[in-house]
Amino acid sequence: MANSVRIVEVGPRDGLQNVKQSIPTLTKIELIRRLQQTGLNTIEITSVVSPRTIPQLADCKTLLANTDVKRIVQDERLRAPVLIPNVKGLDIALENNIREIAVFVSASEGFSKANINCSVQQGLDRAKAVAEIARQRNVAVRGYVSCIFSCPYDGPTPPSAVLNSVQQLLAMGCYEISLGDTLGVGVASQTAALIKFLVDAGVPIGTLAGHFHDTYGQALANIWAAYRSGLRVFDSSVGGLGGCPYAPGAKGNVASEDVVYMFEQAGINTGVNLDRLAETGAWISEQLKKQNESRAGSALLAK
Ligand code: HMG
Ligand code: MG
Repeated sequence: MANSVRIVEVGPRDGLQNVKQSIPTLTKIELIRRLQQTGLNTIEITSVVSPRTIPQLADCKTLLANTDVKRIVQDERLRAPVLIPNVKGLDIALENNIREIAVFVSASEGFSKANINCSVQQGLDRAKAVAEIARQRNVAVRGYVSCIFSCPYDGPTPPSAVLNSVQQLLAMGCYEISLGDTLGVGVASQTAALIKFLVDAGVPIGTLAGHFHDTYGQALANIWAAYRSGLRVFDSSVGGLGGCPYAPGAKGNVASEDVVYMFEQAGINTGVNLDRLAETGAWISEQLKKQNESRAGSALLAK
């Protein structure tokens, strides 16, 4: 299956975490259920973080205890990671028999302090403690590095800082590292240059994934550049939902519908039913009373 990519749907976590109005837990569960029926094989279902920092996902325990969610989590054909900042969060994930988690660090000090209240190295040490226990319990660990191009507090990020985080995350046992343009400011030439820098330094290309927010409308171009550089795994969010409270002004993730449309039109298999995905994007946008940010999804449904 050389001519295929894997889409990591982050809508239920990144997509919802910064929505201000309260979303019923059952709506979140219905979103996960609908996404699973599109053929997506990786869905990040929630995070277990301090409810003070992300009040929207404070219902994570109720969500994880739901029978439909449990069935999806136990389905061996699926990956259903949960975002985890510390051992406290991991304990809750383990109590709910989660089979995969994602740990997250920043390449920049300012965002690390704002997002997880510690330095970059302390964040990496925390992630290592989480990853070690998770690996002992046979739980797969994915890693994120935020602010790969720029930080809202520190400005441009040196590629060497990204490399440092990537290397430490790999060394602690993450099977894949998602490179996060948290602010959505990068362009295709920067994406290609960063990937080259990492690969030249010895990072295996097959361990990298791309996570592009779309603030400046560059996310699809970045994904295509990353694909041309050898990446085959991309994070995206149905309806283009997404954002982080500590990345002020940043827009949502690239819309999953747009990513699927781009790859499928190019003859690259995603395994995702685009019509169902577009319906799900329209459905969740309506539930949240917001505009559907997916161009491909809106175009398909207007036909
Ligand atoms: P802290 O205040 O330094 O930690 O926060 P603490 O250990 O002192 O705990 C503070 C309170 O939170 C305590 O409650 C803890 O019990 C509770 P209190 O006793 O005061 O009532 N707490 C927890 N509750 C539930 N689950 C937990 C947990 N941990 C502590 N796991 C901490 C440090 C890391 C906990 C906090 O800063 C935090 O939760 N940060 C997460 C913020 C977040 O989720 N940001 C968005 C996700 S990252 C992102 O979006 C980027 C990404 O998409 C990639 C990209 O775009 O670049 C991944
Ligand atoms: Mg993100």
